[in-house]
Amino acid sequence: MSASIANAERPEGTATIPPPFLSVHDLRVEFAARQSLFRHRRTPTRAVNDVSFSIPAGKTLGLVGESGAGKSTVARAILRLVQIQSGQVIVEGRNVSSLSGAPLVEYRRQVQVVFQDPYSSLNPSHVVGEIVGELITRHRGIRPGRARDELVAKLLQRVGLGSFVMERLPDELSGGQRQRVAIARALAVEPRLIVCDEPTSALDVSIQSQIINLLADLQASAGLTYLFITHNLAMARHISHTLAVMYLGYLVESGPTERVFARPAHPYTEMLLASSPVPDPAQQRQRAAARSRINRSTDPSTSLRAGPAIAAAVTGCPFANRCSRVMDICRKTMPVQTEVSGGGSVRCHAHTTGATIDFIGIKFGH
Ligand SMILES: Nc1ncnc2c1ncn2[C@@H]1O[C@H](COP(=O)(O)OP(=O)(O)OP(=O)(O)O)[C@@H](O)[C@H]1O
Ligand code: SF4
Ligand SMILES: [Mg+2]
Repeated sequence: MSASIANAERPEGTATIPPPFLSVHDLRVEFAARQSLFRHRRTPTRAVNDVSFSIPAGKTLGLVGESGAGKSTVARAILRLVQIQSGQVIVEGRNVSSLSGAPLVEYRRQVQVVFQDPYSSLNPSHVVGEIVGELITRHRGIRPGRARDELVAKLLQRVGLGSFVMERLPDELSGGQRQRVAIARALAVEPRLIVCDEPTSALDVSIQSQIINLLADLQASAGLTYLFITHNLAMARHISHTLAVMYLGYLVESGPTERVFARPAHPYTEMLLASSPVPDPAQQRQRAAARSRINRSTDPSTSLRAGPAIAAAVTGCPFANRCSRVMDICRKTMPVQTEVSGGGSVRCHAHTTGATIDFIGIKFGH
């Protein structure tokens, strides 16, 4: 991640902790198994298992984990786009998990989302002025005309675009410009929470930095709260105040970003950080060696591609088949969330049975 990214300083914890803007309690989401000629038992997929975390107002929680971990499903549950099996989503003190009808429509309007591929979320046959203006009409009741155009131009200015793009169709814009339009559209409804699901992964690296800077600037000026999903750990470190790590549908670790990077508590977090590419080849080799020490599994049935169906079947720790520190108890009992010194929590028996994690001692610098 480029050093030019603003807001790189995300201090570890200060004396006053604001109340959570968003909190998620024991969230569980299941998907019905698809019917198949070869499958007789239709066990539902548990995409998200007993996940709990909170985000203070005006802060960013980075949600990381490999493909299929359940990150987008958590986001979709918060946005109320998938059915919540159990658990609660609380936004500004209000339980939104069971909203329906008009209050649900109103809630969905307040919580905006920016996806990886802005093209798929922007109507290709509408010009930008209409795409952004339409939301202004719906949200504020301002009809098409000069007053609405002025508001659109102001929003575009806030995201670094000139008013000339109002006449352009989405496919006449660059990827970065399209993502800026998607952010302007999200801002049109004056949201307080924005869910960003890999908002930069389809963009060139130089453009990624610009979008991250823009999001950080908007947070500083408008007090926005972000749930920021990414595969890019360096980016997560820059943008997030707290980090949450998911593995096979479970939240295995969370805590202040700098604590998690400096002292990862869960073996999976260690492995994930050790997989993060670094420019220095010597450090990269050191990390690769650390990664192979931590990840003992060679059994393809335990690979991440096997998905959360495995998590539904296991009774113990979902990481047990890959963990070099596995103990008997790990295969029998699901570890509970335990507080970690330095802030946050971890779901690992090594923190509940008296054993201590032997940190691999690698520094994760920028
Ligand atoms: N609509 C659906 N129906 C059935 N299964 C689903 C559905 N959506 C997601 N899943 C499954 O739930 C699991 C979690 O998916 P999710 O998209 O949340 O993962 P993710 O962490 O966002 O992955 P990625 O990093 O690849 O985006 C996956 O195994 C996926 O196949
Ligand atoms: S609970 Fe056991 S198997 Fe799971 S991560 Fe901790 S030590 Fe490894
Ligand atoms: Mg996803």
